[in-house]
Amino acid sequence: MSRLTIEGGFPLKGTVQVSGAKNSVLPILAACIMLDGETVLTNVPYLNDVSIMVRMLSALGVRAEYYHHNKIKIWNKGKLRHMAPYDLVTSMRASFFVAGPLLAKTGLAKVPLPGGCSIGTRPVDIHLKGFEALGAKVSIEHGFVSMQADKLKGGPVPLGFPSVGATENLMMAASLAEGDTVIQNAAKEPEITDLANLLIQAGAKIEGVGTSTIHITGVKTLQGLASYPIIPDRIEAGTLIIAAALCDDEVRVEGVVPGHIESVLYKLKQCGVNFTVEENAVVVKPRKRNLTAVDIETAPYPGFPTDMQAQMMTLLTIAEGKSIIKEKIFENRFMHARELMRMGAKIKIDEHTATITGVKNLSGAEVKITDLRAGAALILAGLVAKGYTNVYGLHHLNRGYYQLDQKLKELGAKSFK
Ligand code: EPZ
Repeated sequence: MSRLTIEGGFPLKGTVQVSGAKNSVLPILAACIMLDGETVLTNVPYLNDVSIMVRMLSALGVRAEYYHHNKIKIWNKGKLRHMAPYDLVTSMRASFFVAGPLLAKTGLAKVPLPGGCSIGTRPVDIHLKGFEALGAKVSIEHGFVSMQADKLKGGPVPLGFPSVGATENLMMAASLAEGDTVIQNAAKEPEITDLANLLIQAGAKIEGVGTSTIHITGVKTLQGLASYPIIPDRIEAGTLIIAAALCDDEVRVEGVVPGHIESVLYKLKQCGVNFTVEENAVVVKPRKRNLTAVDIETAPYPGFPTDMQAQMMTLLTIAEGKSIIKEKIFENRFMHARELMRMGAKIKIDEHTATITGVKNLSGAEVKITDLRAGAALILAGLVAKGYTNVYGLHHLNRGYYQLDQKLKELGAKSFK
């Protein structure tokens, strides 16, 4: 299994650039199934998950290629296949985003049920209920979701939970439906706004994105875009800010939209992290006081993001006092805790609540990555632990972080593969 060795205890110093948002480019690539002609996406992160989505588009008849490392060009000639390949959907559940666009564009979609993953069962019932509300016939057989609709019809689409993926899938489908759709209890993540902006520039009529009620008036066609920039990855930004906070020197994290991580910055300030905020940067500085415990409860945006929970736990393992973390989004997202405990962290898990008692320092150990964000949390822990930490299972990390270890090394971290 691939391994990264980190020698802890070195300060990080300098400037680091945040890459484009994984959770924005994935639904946006799916949306390109509905955009006629050519589209170019820029500020695209070079990630395994993005490559899988590029392969998915090609399998559906939409040619897509990376070029110049952070651009993707898409050619959509409209000859679409409506069946998504099993191996691609099961290797990345975000491939399920192609369901809405395929249904809207061809009237048919046959997409394998995405499996769960280590953090939870991650069903798609909210997506399917929404497609039925738009007039699709939905059936599940042999592990495939089959959907059919001569023409999707707009209407009220209440979501039982503000699901990010369901909001995105249904907003895409409704963009080409007949009539008006109102998505109620919609999710408000910045990645949804980024997707909506692309669709609007392509000719869609969408209002209220970023609020819990999104109004969509269906149009007949959507046109490709000469160039569309993906927003910065707020989760990578938060991860880099915590890395800087742990190593306690001056680091400038550039290309971040501070407004996208307000809830994270609020908690970091409360915990004693010293930083200033500029229009497109956060500058972390040496602390003026010791880190102290804070309580965290993950929630849909603009609440504290579940994708930052693991990284925050690492910071709190060396914060004085007792911190409580409640994971309210996924049913099994504390697997990094047992690996942190192997590094000397004092953590008690009770169902969806973790109690962290701060310790003076962590000690290097052999640890294993179980999921993407847990991987980031363990690398952060290695930066500040005494001695060497061997982090195994790097393939999880490469799904969602573009060269995280390289970026940290350029700031002064001591690591090697
Ligand atoms: C998106 O996943 C992100 N992935 C996740 O990031 C992120 O953790 C999550 O949103 C929450 O912010 C992408 O955007 C590619 P949800 P998604 O639908 O859309 C339940 C990362 O690390 N649910 O908002 O799958 C679900 O089980 C990844 O980058 C249903 O019950 O998240 C979960 O408990 C991890 N039925 C909760 O809702 C449904 O039909 C939130 O899921 C859909 C969701």
